[in-house]
Amino acid sequence: MSVLVTGGAGYIGSHCCVTFLEAGHDVVVLDNLSNSSAESLTRVAELTGRSVHFEQCDIRDRAHVETILRKHSCESVVHFAGLKAVGESVEDPLRYYENNVGGTVQLLSAMQACNVKTIIFSSSATVYGEPQSLPLREDHPTAPLNPYGESKLMVEQILKDLKTSDPEWRIAILRYFNPTGAHASGLIGEDPRGVPNNLMPFISQVASGRREVLSIFGDDYPTEDGTGVRDYIHVVDLVEGHLKAHEALIKPSEQLQANTSECLTVNLGTGTGYSVQEMVRAFERASNRAVATQIAPRRAGDSAEVYASTQKASDVLDWTAGRGLQDMCHDTWNWVCKNPKGYDDSAE
Ligand code: NAD
Ligand code: UFG
Repeated sequence: MSVLVTGGAGYIGSHCCVTFLEAGHDVVVLDNLSNSSAESLTRVAELTGRSVHFEQCDIRDRAHVETILRKHSCESVVHFAGLKAVGESVEDPLRYYENNVGGTVQLLSAMQACNVKTIIFSSSATVYGEPQSLPLREDHPTAPLNPYGESKLMVEQILKDLKTSDPEWRIAILRYFNPTGAHASGLIGEDPRGVPNNLMPFISQVASGRREVLSIFGDDYPTEDGTGVRDYIHVVDLVEGHLKAHEALIKPSEQLQANTSECLTVNLGTGTGYSVQEMVRAFERASNRAVATQIAPRRAGDSAEVYASTQKASDVLDWTAGRGLQDMCHDTWNWVCKNPKGYDDSAE
């Protein structure tokens, strides 16, 4: 009995492998390595003392996915595989719909053919769009602002329709806020290709001297210091939320059993927002390095303030994020110091 982790060589997926292996699950990773390196899985094995079965495969290749599900007797799937760059999704929407939506349809079809009907899906707080009320609750209206967010919402709808058509499916939709940090060992972490789009990888590359200056996108938002506020969540807390969701699907509580007609849709965030300036200061403290900043215009599509309601995750999954901002910054810095070029270092 194994758990199939699609996108398991990537940032969140590799941390998920560690948590699931440590919890005693057998893990099979399916990844096409389009945005990752198999070195992450070597590190996962090193960390856990357990092997990970790796299958290089594209989720759009339904026949291959079926073969893998059967070969390893998979009983559930944690589905991370997908493209995630917001700007790129605006420039090339078809690629995003084809990979994220089309790919997920192929994956679900393969699962159905193999009678594997338990899945956890990586959704995103981006499905809410511009917040109308804070903290964002799961019943907040959805209105994505870009094709990436639309692709996540489309998959959510497909999963809901699938559950309606066949209540045997057990489905968790997890809406992540802003994942950051790295495993405390510094062996695995986020390894973005090219110029990072996201704040924390950019800050850490300025601190390490790889980039000169962080552009702060707007200092005139209606927030305490004028810079954008987000709900940053430590990646290890995030994947522990997946383990809880997996347990809830496999052994549903009475409360969940009463709701078996629905997908389990839950936010994974901390409920606390930090501004860009606060993040910079926290990173400077953790790294003991200065981070040069300059004020730049607002980035199109950004909201002033985004943070989660964590009530449902606490009530239904019995999960709350335990790690704080210092852990996120410290663990990111530890990873960057040990792997200044990301996973490429080990190739040299
Ligand atoms: P990542 O790019 O590090 O990992 C995604 C993995 O999926 C990569 O290893 C990539 O090679 C693989 N992949 C992509 N398309 C594939 C395909 N067609 N077939 C097989 N493998 C494929 O990204 P991540 O940060 O670990 O994100 C994981 C998931 O979480 C994504 O679905 C992402 O949209 C979602 N998410 C991420 C964030 C974030 O800020 N990191 C926030 C919300 C949601
Ligand atoms: N920011 C900067 N400079 C940078 C990068 C970011 O000032 O170089 C600011 C942004 O304007 C924003 C904050 O830092 O105020 C966080 O930006 P990120 O790009 O790190 O994160 P976002 O909240 O914009 O989006 C992220 C992921 C999305 C995901 C969303 C979930 O990129 O994929 O979190 O809430 F959907």
